[in-house]
Amino acid sequence: MTQAPFTLLQISDCHLLDDPAGLYRDQSPDRNLLSLLPALKRLKPDGVVITGDVAEQGGRAAYERVVSYLEGFCHHIAYIPGNHDDRSVMTEIFGAAGYDAGPVVNWGGWRGILLDSVVDGDPSGTLGADDLSQLKKLGESEEPTLVFVHHPPMAVGSAWIDRYPLTNGEAFMDCLDAASVKAVSFGHVHQVFVQNRKGIQYLSAPATSVNSQAGFDRFTVDPTGPKARWFKLWPEGRWASGVISAG
Ligand SMILES: [Fe+2]
Repeated sequence: MTQAPFTLLQISDCHLLDDPAGLYRDQSPDRNLLSLLPALKRLKPDGVVITGDVAEQGGRAAYERVVSYLEGFCHHIAYIPGNHDDRSVMTEIFGAAGYDAGPVVNWGGWRGILLDSVVDGDPSGTLGADDLSQLKKLGESEEPTLVFVHHPPMAVGSAWIDRYPLTNGEAFMDCLDAASVKAVSFGHVHQVFVQNRKGIQYLSAPATSVNSQAGFDRFTVDPTGPKARWFKLWPEGRWASGVISAG
């Protein structure tokens, strides 16, 4: 008999301001996130991964509001920072809320690897040598694995954000073994992206704040609103993923 899958949500790029009435790209990031939550709850998530840029200004109030919005949402919530986040404030508030900073989570027979790619003061990201050597060892186990990182390791075809990638993305991707790593999923790009490279799926979670239409040199607002990515993970390694909107 097939076991029920583990339902995992990836929430990214909330960009909440200190002021809950503040605007991000002329929209309310609080209202947009809240408008998405009913659709996310209907998926009955078993776990959530927040992949950074929670707070536009890195302020305490933004993290505290996210914790209140996600109250009772799900038992397992994990997170990584993005370039807009204040790592120490995020760690303090999310840690107190019981959120998991990884770097490894074990959910539904799957392994989740949470990578911190943030370089202080830099909108681009980089992974450390220690991270890369740890990633090379993942292939020694065939446990199905998802890797989460804020910055994209490859260009997504939109110049406005491709200027700020994971600077050692090629080296990162070369460390991964498709025997265990099924997918790498990132945030940062505010658009939907899917690409296969050497048997590993590279995905983005679009933003819960404001998204851009894909393939534009400048940020060009996507009128279809805030989104998140979902995963269904079966213990034998089968998986599926897609994007969910508020509507
Ligand atoms: Fe970012």
